[in-house]
Formats: sequence, C-alpha cells, structure tokens
Amino acid sequence: MRTAIYPGSFDPVTLGHWDIIQRAEKLVDKLVVAVLHNPAKTSAFSVEERVAMLRELVGDRPSVTVTSFHGLLVDFAKSQGAQFIVRGVRAFSDFEYEFQMALMNRKLAPELETVFLMPKEKYSAVSSRLVREIGSMGGNLSELVPEALRERVAQRLAK
Ligand code: PNS
Repeated sequence: MRTAIYPGSFDPVTLGHWDIIQRAEKLVDKLVVAVLHNPAKTSAFSVEERVAMLRELVGDRPSVTVTSFHGLLVDFAKSQGAQFIVRGVRAFSDFEYEFQMALMNRKLAPELETVFLMPKEKYSAVSSRLVREIGSMGGNLSELVPEALRERVAQRLAK
C-alpha cells in the first residue's frame, strides 16, 4: 500500500493546494492531507477550520483523508505508515526552502521519500499569504480559492 502525506499550513487552502491534492491522489493508494498545529505561527483560520474546509473539498474521495498533526512531520508520517511526503513547488523561489526541508527530513528518516509536484502554471503565483492579504482588503478571490469555500473564506478574512 503506497501512502503519502501532503503536509502544510493550508491557511487557507488555495486552488494551488487543491491542484496538488488531485495530482497526488492519482499516484498513491492513500493520501493523508495533514494540517500542522504550529503554536509558533499565528494563523487566520484555526486548525479545526482548515481541516473542515479541506474535508469539504475532498468530499467522499475514498483514498484521501484529512487530519492535523503536532510535532515532527517524519514522526507523523511514520505513524501513518507513509513512504512519501508530497510537496508542491510553484516556482524556483520555493526550491531552496523545499530542498532544505526535504534533505533534513531525509536525515531524520531516510526511508521517507519527498516527492515534488508542480501545480498548473496559472497557480504559480497563488499562495495562502496572498489570499489572506487580498481577502482582508476585500479583493476578488476567484482565481485563488476553490469555489465551494470562496464565500466563507472571503467573509472570514474581511472581518
Ligand atoms: O505550508 P507550509 O507552511 O509551507 O508547510 C510547512 C510544513 C508544515 C510542511 C513544515 O513546517 C513541517 O513539516 N513542520 C513540522 C515540523 C517539522 O517536521 N520540522 C522539521 C522540518 S525539516
């Protein structure tokens, strides 16, 4: 059974994340989308809200589950019996951070392989940070956030 973890902050989930979920789903038997509990980082949406939004998007896809995790990613991945970590890379600027993280995770758990996937080019400038910024100023989120969640995200960010 091939299992992958797709970890992240997902604050909030974007069309870019959703693109990666759909690509990763095709590669494995089980995909676990995992939201990090990160007390060191202030977030716009609570972990519970982020998990709920991702679950709504994923719907009844049998091979995809959504959960949250604390602590080291490699420990969580092992607890799930995963062999792969999936990360999306949008542009060259993502690469240094991702490369460093992948190599460190490999040092911590050599049996886990990090797999990088590219979202559609039209999502290469899409990030949760920009969604938060544009949403908080009442901007249009239609190219940024999945339609099913757009109104909710816009209302929360506009507050
Ligand atoms: O969406 P993000 O914020 O880029 O995701 C970063 C994430 C959650 C993948 C990363 O911060 C992480 O794995 N954190 C868990 C703690 C950990 O394992 N740290 C060591 C990484 S080398």
